[in-house]
Amino acid sequence: MVSDAILKVEHLSKYFTVNLAGRKMTLKAVDDVSFEVPKGATLGIVGESGSGKTTLLRTIALLYTPTSGRITFNGEVIFDSDKRIMKRQYVRGLISMVYQDPESELNPTMRIIDIVAEPLEALRVPRDEALRRAEEAIREVGLSSDILLKRPLQLSGGQKQRVAVARAIVTNPLMVLLDEPTSNLDVVVQAGILNLLLDLQKTYNLTYILVTHNLAVAQYMSDYLAVFYTGRMYEWLPATDEPKHPYAKALADAFPTPDPFNRKILNIEIKGEVPSMLSLPSGCTFHPRCPYAMDVCREKAPQLKSIGNGHLVACHLY
Ligand SMILES: Nc1ncnc2c1ncn2[C@@H]1O[C@H](COP(=O)(O)OP(=O)(O)O)[C@@H](O)[C@H]1O
Ligand SMILES: [Mg+2]
Repeated sequence: MVSDAILKVEHLSKYFTVNLAGRKMTLKAVDDVSFEVPKGATLGIVGESGSGKTTLLRTIALLYTPTSGRITFNGEVIFDSDKRIMKRQYVRGLISMVYQDPESELNPTMRIIDIVAEPLEALRVPRDEALRRAEEAIREVGLSSDILLKRPLQLSGGQKQRVAVARAIVTNPLMVLLDEPTSNLDVVVQAGILNLLLDLQKTYNLTYILVTHNLAVAQYMSDYLAVFYTGRMYEWLPATDEPKHPYAKALADAFPTPDPFNRKILNIEIKGEVPSMLSLPSGCTFHPRCPYAMDVCREKAPQLKSIGNGHLVACHLY
C-alpha cells in the first residue's frame, strides 16, 4: 500500500442476483477490482452507462454489502469478506456522496437548512450545532443565506447541486464520492460546480472519487483515471497520460479535446452497444466492439499489466 493511501480496494466484487424469466442469474456489476487512492487526490472513473461506476461507489461507501474483497479506509479495514468485517458505522460522515440528480437526493418538502443539517443529526450532533454548521457549509458552497428557508423546488439546478455538495461536506468527511455530479447541468453551471469542488478539496484536503462519462472532465479534475467497462477495470493511469486501451481511446473520441493533435492520435470509433451484463462476451468483454480484436481477445480475459509510470492496462495489444 502506498504510504499515503487513504483508500485501498482489494479484489472488490459486488454481484446482484436478478430474476430473468423465472431464472435466478448473477449480475457481476463490479468484478474483482483493486486500486489505491492517495489522500487528497482525485480518482476519476470513466465508462459508459452500465459499466458499474455507481455500484462501485455505493459499495465503497458500504451502502451496498460487498460480495467479496477487502476495503481499507483511513488505516481501518472497513470491509473484509474473509474476516467478516463490516464497519458501516465507522464510515458514516467520513465518506459522503453527491449524486447525479439532486432532485432525487433532496427531499422536496424540507427546507434547505434542514436538508444540509440532516446528516449531522443522523450522527447525533445537537440540533443548534447542526444548524450552525449547516449554515456555514451553505456559505462555503457559495450560496447566500436567503436560501436557508427555501425548498428545493425554488432553486435552480446549479443551486440544488451546491446544496447537495454542502450536505456532503457538512460532516467534515475525509472522502467524497461524486457520482456524475454535473451531468445534468449546462456547461457554464457545470464549470462552476467543478471549480467549487476543486476549491473545497484544496481547503480541506479532501479525497475524491469522481464518476463521469466525460473523459475530458475526468482529466481536468483528476490525478488518476480508472476506465471501467462491464464491471471490470480495464485501465488505470495518471491523468496526464494518454489512455491506451482501445475502449478508453474511444471514450476520449466521444468527447474530443479542442487540441487537434490529441484528436488525431485518439481517433478511433467503436461500434455496437454495451453487451448484456447477464451474457458477457468471453475473454476481453470489449472484443466484439474492438477494431483491433485478435483471436486471443475472444479466448482470454486480459489482466492489468504495468506499462510504466504507474500506468496499468488490461489489453492483449500491450
Ligand atoms: N440494485 C441492483 N440490482 C440489480 N442490478 C443492478 C442493481 N444496480 C445496478 N445493477 C446493474 O449493474 C450494472 C452496473 O450498473 P451501475 O453501477 O448503475 O452502472 P453505471 O453507474 O456505470 O451506469 C448494470 O447492468 C445495472 O443494471
Ligand atoms: Mg451510474
